[in-house]
Amino acid sequence: MPAILLLNGPNLNLLGTREPATYGSTTLADVEVRSRATAERLGHTLEAFQSNHEGALIDAIHAAGKRFKAGELLGVVFNPGAYTHTSVALHDAIAGVAPLPVIEVHISNVHAREAFRHHSYVSPAAAGIVVGFGVAGYDLAIEGLVRKTAKA
Ligand code: DQA
Repeated sequence: MPAILLLNGPNLNLLGTREPATYGSTTLADVEVRSRATAERLGHTLEAFQSNHEGALIDAIHAAGKRFKAGELLGVVFNPGAYTHTSVALHDAIAGVAPLPVIEVHISNVHAREAFRHHSYVSPAAAGIVVGFGVAGYDLAIEGLVRKTAKA
């Protein structure tokens, strides 16, 4: 069974202590443990990577594209953090490795927050979007990815 890549962008390493009223008190390590359990329940392994650097995230998406082509990866669950709202390069990275399915996740409801969070460069290239369910959104995204890619 192909693996699922859980990719987290800038400042998500601070989950648990960062603005808990907005992002909750679950740490990234806890999110990774829960996501691994969800992926395994659905028959997949989980690989996790977090970076605060745009280029490292782009490299991870390129590598994921290659592994998808080789049949080793089912797709990516990706919280791009603030790069969501700024990064044409992340959009182009995802578009450049199509049809690798990337599910965009946001812990908070970005549409209920500041106007600068309302636009996503990533969304037009994403296969699906999960917004505003707290850290449970990662589990929902894994489930959505598995359903979306299920062979009929
Ligand atoms: C976020 C929302 C972004 O606007 C913010 O910059 C983040 C986290 C979320 O998960 O809600 O870093 O992606």
